[in-house]
Amino acid sequence: MPLVRTERLTKAFGALVAVNAVTLAVDEGSLHSVIGPNGAGKTTFFNLLTGQLAPTSGRIVFDGRDIAGTPSHRIAHLGIARSFQRTSIFPTLSILDNVWLAAFARQASWRGLAWRRTDGYPALAERAMAVLEEVGLAGKAAAPARAISHGEQRQLELAIALAANPRLLLLDEPAAGLSSDETQKMVALVRTLKGRYTIILIEHKIDVVMSMSDRISVMHFGSVIAEGMPAEIQRNAEVRRAYLGGIAPS
Ligand SMILES: Nc1ncnc2c1ncn2[C@@H]1O[C@H](COP(=O)(O)OP(=O)(O)OP(=O)(O)O)[C@@H](O)[C@H]1O
Ligand SMILES: [Mg+2]
Repeated sequence: MPLVRTERLTKAFGALVAVNAVTLAVDEGSLHSVIGPNGAGKTTFFNLLTGQLAPTSGRIVFDGRDIAGTPSHRIAHLGIARSFQRTSIFPTLSILDNVWLAAFARQASWRGLAWRRTDGYPALAERAMAVLEEVGLAGKAAAPARAISHGEQRQLELAIALAANPRLLLLDEPAAGLSSDETQKMVALVRTLKGRYTIILIEHKIDVVMSMSDRISVMHFGSVIAEGMPAEIQRNAEVRRAYLGGIAPS
């Protein structure tokens, strides 16, 4: 059963069709990667799923309902979370408070924020700590967010996305800009999330994608040119021409 599927989803910016009639289904609990060269439309596809952009045409069916054109705050409440938006971190707040706020924001109502202290919400504090455990940052919960390394900031961004207890997690190049050590850590972390969350992963590091994905969709100039299991994608001649070049083993 797909948790989310798109039907001929399209986004045009003037004459440029960044996402062109993309039909794609992601099974509940699976890790589905989207790969493709720079400018292929991958991030725009995420922006459509999260409601940051309204589609020009097509449908997005999430958990059985059409959510195309729904504003982003509503979509977040439906359970779609995206990671790697650095602006969502408050640098002077502690790591725990950053995650706590994300958990709080997911709640139905903001009433009470003005007069209740954070420790008046034990369930949320517990959720925030559990998520920090999950991403390996529990030991640094009290540190200010600005005091941690680049790799740890990425872990924190992931914790912030998880704090909302999402049903669908969108990861846009989680290892971009990380050192090879930090990349390994991030890859290990995403592996621990696999199966527990439904994940769509955009990633350029092809070995990571091949080793981790249940299915892969390949985008090129806004269109999906191939879809399949990693081994099928690796064998696909059109994909190799468009994207993999010499990287894929023959
Ligand atoms: N808001 C926008 N307005 C106009 N054009 C845009 C906008 N956002 C993206 N584009 C264009 O749409 C195309 C797809 O961009 P997108 O960022 O989705 O690619 P991508 O596959 O994520 O690339 P990368 O691998 O470099 O991140 C590009 O040509 C880009 O310049
Ligand atoms: Mg992108």
